[in-house]
Amino acid sequence: MDKLGDLVSRQNWLGPVERVLGAVADVLFLKDVPLGQKVRNFLHGTWLGHPLHPVITDVPLGAWTAAAAFDLYELSTGDKSLARGADVAVGIGLIGAAGAAFTGLNDWNHTSDKPRRVGALHAITNIAATACYLGSWWQRRNGCRRAGLTTGFAGYTLSMVGAYLGGHLVFNERIGVNHAPEALPERFVPVMKESELPDNKMVKAEADGVPLFLVRRGRRIFAMAEKCSHLGGPLSEGEFDGQAVTCPWHGSTFAIGDGSILAGPATYAQPCFEVRVSEGQIEVRASRGMAANPY
Ligand code: FES
Repeated sequence: MDKLGDLVSRQNWLGPVERVLGAVADVLFLKDVPLGQKVRNFLHGTWLGHPLHPVITDVPLGAWTAAAAFDLYELSTGDKSLARGADVAVGIGLIGAAGAAFTGLNDWNHTSDKPRRVGALHAITNIAATACYLGSWWQRRNGCRRAGLTTGFAGYTLSMVGAYLGGHLVFNERIGVNHAPEALPERFVPVMKESELPDNKMVKAEADGVPLFLVRRGRRIFAMAEKCSHLGGPLSEGEFDGQAVTCPWHGSTFAIGDGSILAGPATYAQPCFEVRVSEGQIEVRASRGMAANPY
């Protein structure tokens, strides 16, 4: 039961917010420009093997937590010896927030339905938190210290709400986690007759209950997990160009030989299988260094 997600998904006033954020993301991340894919891959964390957004969010949350602690000390004791440190932490948090916003918006632009709506609220909350800290930073620099501290506490409260929604997106909506299967058969298991596999056409099968697809290229047969590591899209319904398969949902592209990512938004490589043919039967098992064997 996902009470929070269900509640947020009923908030229709977030619809226009989603449309604005989507339009901004399309322009900002060069949707229709070839170079844009490289920019988007970088921001997704394709090069890192892990989503980049949750890595960067630690910067504003950590910095603003330090600032809030220093401010609290100053307010409760009247001692201003940590004031400079608090102000620097607010500034560091603002720089980190810009990075978190870019990476988060880029990831969010590939979500749909409930996660998209929860993500929109997550974005609004964090934008409001950042606006508070911008105000706090300005007030601190212009002699309105007490107001700066108060605005900072408001920003910190909002950033905690934003962080909670971010956690909800990961743990309840499974955004940013690996959707590809992890438990793959260790021993060779039969999946289909070799004579039933045409050339250059992806065919769905199952190995010990794990969905996969097979594709033949000349004398080689390749097998890859069916569920896309990004959000579980059906790879066999995507496109195969002889070297790589492209997911039909958001366009992640994986090399058929080893499952490595050629284009995001996926950040986890796609599991491949070792393949052999025994007595006319195609058999697969979890890859042990090679994605597909010649037979
Ligand atoms: S599910 Fe998103 S790219 Fe495959």
